[in-house]
Amino acid sequence: MPPFRIELRSDTQTVPTADMRAAMAEAEVGDDQAREDPTVRRLEDMAAEMFRKEAALFVSSGTMGNLVSMLTLVERGDSVVVDPVSHVSLAEAGGFASLAGCSLIPVPTEGVLTADAVRPLLGPVTTHSLKPAIIWAENTHNRRGGVAWGPDVLMGLVDLAQEHDLRLHIDGARIFNAATAMEVPVSDLARGTDTVQFCLSKGLGAPFGSMVVGDEELITEARRTRQLVGGGMRQAGVMAAAGLLALRDGPGRLIEDHRRARLLGEVIEDLPGLRLVSPVQTNLIFVAWEPSQIDISRWVELVAEQGIGIGPPRGEMLRLVTHHQVTDEDISEVTDVLATAADAAAITPLG
Ligand SMILES: Cc1ncc(COP(=O)(O)O)c(C=O)c1O
Repeated sequence: MPPFRIELRSDTQTVPTADMRAAMAEAEVGDDQAREDPTVRRLEDMAAEMFRKEAALFVSSGTMGNLVSMLTLVERGDSVVVDPVSHVSLAEAGGFASLAGCSLIPVPTEGVLTADAVRPLLGPVTTHSLKPAIIWAENTHNRRGGVAWGPDVLMGLVDLAQEHDLRLHIDGARIFNAATAMEVPVSDLARGTDTVQFCLSKGLGAPFGSMVVGDEELITEARRTRQLVGGGMRQAGVMAAAGLLALRDGPGRLIEDHRRARLLGEVIEDLPGLRLVSPVQTNLIFVAWEPSQIDISRWVELVAEQGIGIGPPRGEMLRLVTHHQVTDEDISEVTDVLATAADAAAITPLG
């Protein structure tokens, strides 16, 4: 039994639709390590085509997609130019260091990694200096509030990477959300990159999997790297069948998730003691609070008692996320519950 009736903790909480379950049950399968699974091959072809790349690789997760990309693109001792609160820096068990042998060159951003922010960090490589090898972008940027950026920012990074002979990877766990917010085809956010990783199992709604897209040679190498880290699969068509539906139907639905997230954001902004960390642009809503005005743990608890999952508070923020299994009716119920709980969790000054 899922713990909440209405699940706003993450877009990873979606469960497979009836269509997906049927497609999974009927999927034609084969040994994917031998490239004999026709459903996986269809999924890889579809992903490559949508991103206008030569090839794609099905992997188990976003973390696996990022890791395989990094291992494919860098050498031990290289450095990764990245926002320090990127997912790869903070939330992938440190694989960049322990497995890829890389250090990070941090570029603090407000969610958009621009060429202007990166350029000053790319001095000449000397005996003593770090050796930047790859620019690592995240679009949308999770911990910066689901911020999206468009083709102009990408082109700046592509030019900079070329100038300095660097590789360029996008952690596009939610790149379809970015494309929706920017009103561009997702391929416009991938042009000129070496690799892009995107998740099927977040806003697109599949129960499993991510894809890495890139040119034929890199993806061939990435397939070998996936094998190296134990990510080779056998009859993975069962999972790819859900991925195909996620890729077909998911992107077109995201605009609704964003509209609902904005509605929630507007309500939260008006609640006493709460504020948005950044304007809601996609499906992520990051909330900060004034500890003297609201008992935030109590607020989350009261909301949870009504069967609605949000948060939990981490550091100075908590997160709510919309997805295709959150309806308009859910949103109106949630807005009432959030407001009632905020009143009940308010801290009244001693007087
Ligand atoms: C930006 C970003 N990249 C990568 C990942 C990793 O994806 P997974 O949980 O499938 O490993 C996440 C997961 O939340 C994410 O938000």
